[in-house]
Amino acid sequence: MKIRPETLSDCPAITEVNNLAFGQPNKGKLVENLRKNPKFIPELSLVAEIDWKIAGHILFFPVVIKLENSEEKEIMSLAPVAVLPEFQRQGIEGELIREGLKACQRLGYDSVIFLGHPEYYPKFGFKPANKWRITDPFGVPNEAFMALELKVEALEGAGGVVEYPGEFLEV
Ligand SMILES: CC(C)(COP(=O)(O)OP(=O)(O)OC[C@H]1O[C@@H](n2cnc3c(N)ncnc32)[C@H](O)[C@@H]1OP(=O)(O)O)[C@@H](O)C(=O)NCCC(=O)NCCS
Repeated sequence: MKIRPETLSDCPAITEVNNLAFGQPNKGKLVENLRKNPKFIPELSLVAEIDWKIAGHILFFPVVIKLENSEEKEIMSLAPVAVLPEFQRQGIEGELIREGLKACQRLGYDSVIFLGHPEYYPKFGFKPANKWRITDPFGVPNEAFMALELKVEALEGAGGVVEYPGEFLEV
């Protein structure tokens, strides 16, 4: 398996992976829409390629925390992550997350936010975001909204509400 940044020719397969994994067509559309946003970073849209087939995809997209003092702090959002049903339970998501976090670090990002299963993702270092008084705009249960520091104490004093671009809210 090879984990690598997307190329132009991967785009239709990435849409399909997201649609099939989530079982709904709006997830592929979300990735397509985010790709048109000037903040999209192709190096942080990674694919898992197996025998020339795109089996999985992960996207990291920069969002902001509206801090309590009304300043903003940039944080990377991890979403979506998807693996084709026939390739699931082989550790592909785990590899995508590990490689993706390394790529975020290489590009200088100091923290990541994620809405996901509270029992599974702590193994990658994610902790409930309310530890730092970071809250989500969707009103999900706190323990599902998680954050990870890629630099020591990156989120100290970063309490506030995470603001997602409109593309996330349209799906
Ligand atoms: C979630 C998903 C990406 C996991 O992909 P995967 O490649 O099968 O995951 P891995 O093989 O790395 O991890 C496997 C293990 O972690 C567990 N796991 C992985 N993701 C999980 C999740 N979101 N919730 C609960 N358990 C999870 C699996 O149960 C499995 O446990 P096992 O080893 O005891 O069988 C895949 O199932 C998928 O695409 N689902 C639909 C999209 C989705 O829900 N994405 C996550 C939110 S954005």
